[in-house]
Amino acid sequence: MRRVKVGVIGLGFIGPVHIEALRRTGLAEVVAVCAAKSEYESAKKKAAEMGVPKVYEDYTQLLADPEIESVHICTPNNLHYQIAKEALLGGKHVVCEKPLALELEQCDELIALSKKMGKVCAVNFNMRAYPVVQQVKSMIANGDLGEIFSVNGSYTQDWMLLDTDYSWRVDPKFTGDTRTVADIGSHWFDMMEYICGMRVNAVCADFATFYKVRKRPLKPVETYSGKLLEPGDYEEIPIKTEDYSSILFHMGEKVHGTCTTCQTMAGRKNRLYFEIAGSKAMVAWDSEECEKLWIGHRDRPNESLINDASLMYREAGAYTSYPGGHAEGFPDSMKHHMMRIYDDILNASGASHATFEDGKRELEICSAVYQSVIGQKWVEL
Ligand SMILES: NC(=O)c1ccc[n+]([C@@H]2O[C@H](COP(=O)([O-])OP(=O)(O)OC[C@H]3O[C@@H](n4cnc5c(N)ncnc54)[C@H](O)[C@@H]3O)[C@@H](O)[C@H]2O)c1
Repeated sequence: MRRVKVGVIGLGFIGPVHIEALRRTGLAEVVAVCAAKSEYESAKKKAAEMGVPKVYEDYTQLLADPEIESVHICTPNNLHYQIAKEALLGGKHVVCEKPLALELEQCDELIALSKKMGKVCAVNFNMRAYPVVQQVKSMIANGDLGEIFSVNGSYTQDWMLLDTDYSWRVDPKFTGDTRTVADIGSHWFDMMEYICGMRVNAVCADFATFYKVRKRPLKPVETYSGKLLEPGDYEEIPIKTEDYSSILFHMGEKVHGTCTTCQTMAGRKNRLYFEIAGSKAMVAWDSEECEKLWIGHRDRPNESLINDASLMYREAGAYTSYPGGHAEGFPDSMKHHMMRIYDDILNASGASHATFEDGKRELEICSAVYQSVIGQKWVEL
């Protein structure tokens, strides 16, 4: 079978996850990678370890490589728009990490360009592709929960718990106006709209920045491992982006909901959680125990479904590759999302994956949340 030739830009956390997932699809071959110029030497080392033949010093060189048909953008947020635009103008398919851009107008421009160039354009909302999440989508579509009353949940992490925790993600220049909402809330809202088949139409949000100042280490963090930072090891940086958000929202015609996003909750490593309550039944899912779906009933014992294609709706079972009891997690959600994107690229199949339009939608929600905080009021979408 023909494999699409791919270039991956950005080799931090998520770039290598894309490379591994693409290999597992069997539909794509990563032929080149690129990181920041200052990381060229470590990019060469990583490429050698991952067996990727070409390493470029600058992303424009990768985009100019005629062998590359599809480009994955795995850089900090502020570069997504520019790289996506140049990639499309160069005739490449584009798979962009979230958020698609920092401004709504940039999303409009990219959507128009993708249509003009006739290329497949995806945003990596991979968390849609957990099998149990797909099961909830099918349950809602088939009326198993009845009329939806409420949608509640959170996306919480602890990697910013200490004032010495620092990343480009705290700086609006790189991350955009919001941090936790854009970084992790975007997955939560994308998932809720996708599985409920309804749109959020109003939000009212409250933000907190627990550390008004963070300590940015002056050398790579490994240099300090095992000892406390001394003054002189770091510089103090004022923080404007939120560590925490609470968001009230309305969805569809009747649904009321709440979402909390936070990166300073000790012990929550990477936990997307939701509870969807309907007139017949309720479901709850926790991404840190992603194999399980809790199903609540009023008139009979509650149930616990373990990911198993033979026990799920057929379309949800299509998102699982192993027999029940063989746990599938985050890397598998990446594989299943990429399988559909590359099926679309190879066969123009229109397979279900998150698109640039979905990327724009998330920015609309993030912008409304931010406007709500600034104006201290409900904002309609
Ligand atoms: N879908 C998900 O679940 C998920 C998970 C993590 C991150 N992300 C998204 O992926 C993106 C990257 O996040 P990360 O955690 O991997 O960040 P990271 O800081 O670990 O890695 C960023 C990479 O971008 C490279 N880079 C920076 N400037 C560059 C330039 N000018 N040209 C080429 N490469 C450049 C860096 O060298 C580094 O390799 C973010 O937009 C983030 O929102 C998505």
